[in-house]
Amino acid sequence: MLRERIAVARDAIYMNTGWAGPSPSGVLDRVHQALTREAGLGPASPDGIAFHRALLREAREAAARLLRAGVDDVFLTHGTTEGVNIVLHGLDWRPGDELVTCDLEHPALADAAALLAERRGVVVRTASMPPDATPRHAVDAVRQALTPRTRVVALSHVQYSSGLRLPAREIADTTHAAGALVLYDGAQTGGHLALDMAAIGADAYAVSGQKWLLGPTGTGALFMNPRIRSAVRPLLDRAAEGDHAYTLASHGAPLLAGFAEAIRIHEALGPAAVEARALLLGARLKGLLGAIPGARLTGPVDAAASCGLVTIAIDGWPPPAAVDRLWRSHRIAARAVRNPDAVRFSTAPFNTEAECEAVAAAVRELATTAP
Ligand SMILES: Cc1ncc(COP(=O)(O)O)c(C=O)c1O
Repeated sequence: MLRERIAVARDAIYMNTGWAGPSPSGVLDRVHQALTREAGLGPASPDGIAFHRALLREAREAAARLLRAGVDDVFLTHGTTEGVNIVLHGLDWRPGDELVTCDLEHPALADAAALLAERRGVVVRTASMPPDATPRHAVDAVRQALTPRTRVVALSHVQYSSGLRLPAREIADTTHAAGALVLYDGAQTGGHLALDMAAIGADAYAVSGQKWLLGPTGTGALFMNPRIRSAVRPLLDRAAEGDHAYTLASHGAPLLAGFAEAIRIHEALGPAAVEARALLLGARLKGLLGAIPGARLTGPVDAAASCGLVTIAIDGWPPPAAVDRLWRSHRIAARAVRNPDAVRFSTAPFNTEAECEAVAAAVRELATTAP
């Protein structure tokens, strides 16, 4: 059982996997083993170098399986922010070229877009996206922002602030019909939703290792199909060819091992089963929280737009105060989000229905008291 291998699950209700997930013992063991082995071999002895190369290969192959993509189209990164920036800053923008994003975005994309506007004269069109949009509204919002000058549409597949799951395939189709490329920030989807790059139709897709995959912080991967790759130049001016052309900094052996192991565990659980469980728990929690007087769900109600991120505003409670109280009084780990202001819970596969009920009871208590 996954849950039994997660230390924090023994004495807390951990519902902040969307920020960083707690690694199961198998990941911790592999990190430790790799660190020990590397030190024993000598990190840059011929054997140590071979060990490191083998881990690079293993991690890259694991990431390709996670994304259901060809290994040549997948590059290791240190996280999602790095992945989206490799793409956005690596493109050869001309002043007046347009980038479409939306007004709910995490700083990973929003800041990159702002920098492109400032430094490269890119026109950023920010689609107005309701935090609880239906899939149809989401596609319409993107379509309205497209123009003949749009080069790239860059969006989070799942929005971090409300748990809105965008219809990735439909948005990709709409974008391609307009002659542009689509980049997804998959920080909230890797290890959460079952991913398949061809089915999604993404040109580029970035994921993190430390969130739903329950891997180490400082790991991640970036998918780029040949079409976008031909336009994305490596940021550090290395030769554009080669397995590590887009690498910005070294990948440590322990983190590579932990990342590969996290993906292996995810595969053993089954990506479809993981997704189904996260969605089931998310729906359960939404149902419980949505029935609490004085509390209001801020994310989507439509099942097709929902996932394992659940957000709620509680009357009279600034989200940071609620998060603090939930931890101090109930040992429930959640996070505060803005735009719209809310408390966010992540329902990961190691969470349980009983934990959802305990969270609902705690929120009910908060809703009847003042901070
Ligand atoms: C939508 C989104 N993008 C990017 C990030 C940042 O991910 P990373 O720390 O892997 O760069 C997060 C994490 O908080 C996120 O939720």
